[in-house]
Amino acid sequence: MYKQVNLFQKPHEILSNMEEGYCEMKANEHAFLCGLMQEKKPEKVLEVGVAGGGTTAVIMKCLEYVNPDAKMYSVDINKECYRRKGKQTGYQLEEVKEYLANYANHKFLLGGVLPKFIEDIGVGIDFCVLDTTHKIPGELLDFLCVFPYLSDGAVIVLHDVAHNLLGNSIITYATKILLDSVTATKYYEFRNEISNIGAFAINRETKENIANVFSSLSITWAYEPRLVEMLAYRDCYKKFYDEECMELFDIFWEKNRCKLTGK
Ligand SMILES: C[S@@+](CC[C@H](N)C(=O)[O-])C[C@H]1O[C@@H](n2cnc3c(N)ncnc32)[C@H](O)[C@@H]1O
Repeated sequence: MYKQVNLFQKPHEILSNMEEGYCEMKANEHAFLCGLMQEKKPEKVLEVGVAGGGTTAVIMKCLEYVNPDAKMYSVDINKECYRRKGKQTGYQLEEVKEYLANYANHKFLLGGVLPKFIEDIGVGIDFCVLDTTHKIPGELLDFLCVFPYLSDGAVIVLHDVAHNLLGNSIITYATKILLDSVTATKYYEFRNEISNIGAFAINRETKENIANVFSSLSITWAYEPRLVEMLAYRDCYKKFYDEECMELFDIFWEKNRCKLTGK
C-alpha cells in the first residue's frame, strides 16, 4: 500500500553554512522530502510552518538541483521565530542566500494563517509541506484550504506523523490523522527511523472522498484557532466544497468549541 522514496541527502548540507544548524527536521527526514522532490520536480512549492527556515533553505537547495526555475512560498502565522526570540521567522534562509542561485524565486508570507495568503499564491501548487501545530485541528484545516489550489498529482509532505509516539506530547497527531483520513497515494516508511515523516500524492479519488477529511475534524480539538482565523478558513471552504462538507465542518467546529469552552 505505501510507496517507497529514494532518499536524496545532499540538499541538507546547506545547514552547515548557517550560524547555528537549528532545524526541526532531521537529516534523514530532509532526505525523504528531497527524494520526493527529485522524483516530482515541482514547479510551485508551498511550505506552511517555517520556524527558523532551515527546512526552507534545504527545499530551495533541492529545487536548485531539480528545477531551478521553480517558485516557493513559505507561510507562517508568526512574524517572529517562535523558538528564537528577536529573530524573524525564516531568518536562516537569508544567512545562506549566497549559496542559493535561485534565492530570488522564494517569498515569505508571514503573520497570518494560510487563507490570508492562498489566493495570492494561486493555483498550480504541486508540492506542499505542512508542519505547524500537529495538534487537532492544525494541519487538517490547512490541507482543506490548499487542496483546491493543488495541481493533479500534487504531493503533500507531512512532518511529525509519529510525534505522539516519539515526542513528549501525546496529542500531536494531526498530521497522522490527515495521512490516514485522506484518500491518496501514500508514502510512509513506518518500519524504519524515518517513520516520523510521511507524504501523499493526490489522485482522482481524493476529491470524491474529501468528506472523510472534514469528518476527521470530529476528533477532539486540542485548541481553537482565533475566531477571525476560523472564519477565514470557513470562507475559503465555502467557495469550493459541497453542503455536506460544510455541514461536517460547522457541526464539528461547534461541538469542539463547546467542549473547549465548557459552554
Ligand atoms: C514545527 S515548527 C516548523 C518547523 C520547520 N518546518 C522546520 O522544519 O524547521 C512550526 C511552525 O508553525 C508555525 N505555525 C503554527 N501554527 C500555524 C498556522 N496555523 N499557520 C501557519 N504557521 C503556523 C509556528 O509559528 C512555527 O514556526
